[in-house]
Amino acid sequence: MNCVQEGQGYFGPAPNGLVGTVRVPGDKSISHRSVLLGAVNSGPVTVDGFLRSADTLATIRAIRALGVDIEELDSCDGSKLIVYGRGWDGLEEPVDVIDVANAGTLIRLLPGILASCPFFAVLNGDASIRRRPMARILQPLAQMGATVSGRQGGRLPPFTIQGGRLRAGRHQIEVASAQVKSCLILAALRADGQTLIDEPGPSRDHTETMVCYGGAQVRREGDPLGPGTTIVTPLSRDLDMGPVTVPGDISSAAFLLVAALIVPGSRVTVEGVGLNPTRTGLLDVLQEMGADLTVMAVSGEVEPMGAVTAAYTPLHGCDIAAEKVPLLIDELPIWALAAACAEGTSRVRGAAELRLKESDRLAATAQLLRTLGIEVHEHQDGLDIIGNPQRWKGTSVASHGDHRLAMVGAVAGLASRTGVTVDDIECIGISYPDFAATIEQLIHR
Ligand code: S3P
Repeated sequence: MNCVQEGQGYFGPAPNGLVGTVRVPGDKSISHRSVLLGAVNSGPVTVDGFLRSADTLATIRAIRALGVDIEELDSCDGSKLIVYGRGWDGLEEPVDVIDVANAGTLIRLLPGILASCPFFAVLNGDASIRRRPMARILQPLAQMGATVSGRQGGRLPPFTIQGGRLRAGRHQIEVASAQVKSCLILAALRADGQTLIDEPGPSRDHTETMVCYGGAQVRREGDPLGPGTTIVTPLSRDLDMGPVTVPGDISSAAFLLVAALIVPGSRVTVEGVGLNPTRTGLLDVLQEMGADLTVMAVSGEVEPMGAVTAAYTPLHGCDIAAEKVPLLIDELPIWALAAACAEGTSRVRGAAELRLKESDRLAATAQLLRTLGIEVHEHQDGLDIIGNPQRWKGTSVASHGDHRLAMVGAVAGLASRTGVTVDDIECIGISYPDFAATIEQLIHR
């Protein structure tokens, strides 16, 4: 990669493909949760494989602001932590605004912890966070008994929260969302009885897995691929978690695997990657498109993990049904690039939530693909992508400050005839700081 102008990155074609075996940094969702739940654990929790990125460092700062000590053991990559949990009642009122930076998971999960704490907190973040909807967490937290107030009537950050005694009840989540479900689970663990959370479809279940590892009782009843109810029994004592091993992030691996599938001559293996079935929707969809993918599940202490190998394959188009969307929500932009190279048309629907991510990912993905010369039809809740196995020429693409869009642009460069310049690549540090170095390592000379 050559730097073109400050902040920009150029990703040239890889004429001999990408070849090798690599690991990806720790899972972002699980890293956030390890620190958030470690803080309310009854004692210290060791976290191995922690992702050190802009988003997860914001979580470390937020938790330190609540009086919790966190030791970073491995100064080279910071992948090992000890979170000195103080139990839920040991948290202290923060003296300043908690700045979540760009971290949506932090601003949606932390209020679930704060809702039962007898103190006041203010949460805010960057310009992208200040556009993201918060009523979906603040309204149910208020119903449970927390006192909340925020910009535009509680719809947007910054917002305030004063914890209180929480009531059990039943809550309906309109759109499947792990962030909303997790926030309500965390509050419900401290309510005065059993809480039921109805969701229209399954979403990632890392919070449930981790709190159950700490002794909580949370279970889901219903259709594994459709509507279901999460039933939360309040804690009778603080969580008591053992050590946490964070698997590699399948959402980061997705960029390397799709790159291998669309750049001729490639074969890439990603080892030690998380294979939680609520996160592996992309692998199923790529297999439906004819991809040469091999998944070798090993085990994981708490979360399933293993190795995935992808080798270059001419792909054919496919349709993604709305109920599958939450299982690959963060991978849809890179899936769209695979669809752009496939023979035939691919469609996704039921993905309006993508408009509410770090950027409007439906609009930004459509724009990026069009810049490459791909025909795309944008719908309110999805995309139709008219695949074209002929490769695009070089061009410049916009990331909109969104880490996942920037990495789509980079992979487009590897598969292009003359390279792609991405306008802002610094944002890649939100989830995958070593991305460019790993790509360099995989390019076959
Ligand atoms: C996440 C849940 C998803 C995902 C986000 C991380 C989580 O968001 O897009 O990147 O860690 O719970 P939603 O819950 O809004 O779908």
